[in-house]
Amino acid sequence: QIQAVIFDLDGVITDTAEYHYQAWGMIAKELSLPFTREFNENLKGVSRIASLELLLGQAATPHTYSPEEMEEMATRKNEFYQQLIQQVTPADVLPGISELLSELKDHGVKTGIASASKNAFTVIRLLGMEKDFRVIVDAAKLARNKPDPEVFLTAADAFGVDPQFCVGVEDAVAGVEAIKAAGMFAVYISLQENLSIADMNLNHTAELNYSELNQQFAAAKN
Ligand code: G6P
Ligand code: MG
Repeated sequence: QIQAVIFDLDGVITDTAEYHYQAWGMIAKELSLPFTREFNENLKGVSRIASLELLLGQAATPHTYSPEEMEEMATRKNEFYQQLIQQVTPADVLPGISELLSELKDHGVKTGIASASKNAFTVIRLLGMEKDFRVIVDAAKLARNKPDPEVFLTAADAFGVDPQFCVGVEDAVAGVEAIKAAGMFAVYISLQENLSIADMNLNHTAELNYSELNQQFAAAKN
């Protein structure tokens, strides 16, 4: 039996992955760096500063920036991002999420958020979902980034649930790696290719439902 479901936030609960993409796009434009949606896939689930490093690595002629310059660019990206998320409302919860959350509640399954974003609390508040998650891991308190399992293990620990009874839901490759490293059942949601390391591959959040999830979870245990 599933005891807890731990969700990634950006790109799973709501489409803020799009706003991260747009904000990085503005920084890339300022620096005249190439930036595509395909490349952006590598930034999903990746921390702010590590994302910046990947973006700067796209330069044809590499340039070394001081830690202060790096910090300044990361802050600027965050300012763009914070402006963009001002438009988030409860109507922006992705299809199928609210239904799944109420099914999980009915079955006594705990629900939490394992996001690498320091803006996670703000986004949850804008969505009006403060009461939907018993645990929201504070990214500012984490030492290691996805694909390290720390964020998922922190959530399981806060629930007092053994990771083997937890399900993690992700839209990022690094995130699925983190879920598997935590010893949990991994659901990957992506319109792109399937991930062989994921236990369940879905194209869209609308395909999520408790009975299917529970069935696949039970099958994976046998
Ligand atoms: C999530 C997103 C990433 C983002 C990271 C840090 O993992 O998928 O795109 O870089 O959070 O977010 P932050 O809001 O702290 O810059
Ligand atoms: Mg995500």
